Amino acid sequence: MRLFLALWPPQRVSAELALVGEALAELAHGKPVPAEKNHLTLAFLGEVAAERVDAVRGPAAEARAAPFELVLDHVGAFRKARVAWAGSSGLPAGLIQLQSNLDRALRAAQFPLDDRPFAAHVTLARKIARPVPPAPMPQIRWPAKELVLARTETGTGRYSILERWSLDRD
Ligand code: 2AM
Repeated sequence: MRLFLALWPPQRVSAELALVGEALAELAHGKPVPAEKNHLTLAFLGEVAAERVDAVRGPAAEARAAPFELVLDHVGAFRKARVAWAGSSGLPAGLIQLQSNLDRALRAAQFPLDDRPFAAHVTLARKIARPVPPAPMPQIRWPAKELVLARTETGTGRYSILERWSLDRD
């Protein structure tokens, strides 16, 4: 099954992000990502055999860093992938630590990960047909409190959450 580890926004944040997604989709002639699909990927695992899914749990639980606030403050696009996204100009130390812990722990558990540097983004519109120049946007404050293991369903492209870990260990 196709898996990834991500931050999933609370409802207020995903609703705000979805509005930005609608505006971006209109501007760039793309398809907005619906509120319930908004997330920030920390590690893309790709296809994982059913018997290997349990092996993701140890690294995920171990990688947890303290909760943090992520401030999304600009939009941009990946031209080749034809997606427009929201990003943060000052990544919190907690996010950098969580992502690098995850990367290290998953590699140690023999999960092959992308070698490209981490580019924190929340995809808000897909299949864009026009460019989206980098631009500031009104800040969206996202209190990040949990890490999730999510699955992309084959066929529907919907996401299902398989497990959640609170970033607060207590
Ligand atoms: P994206 O939003 O920029 O497309 C599920 O597909 C999540 O994993 C998405 O957030 C997606 O990023 C991310 N992802 C990272 N690398 C990927 C890859 N090689 N193929 C598909 N999704 C990838």
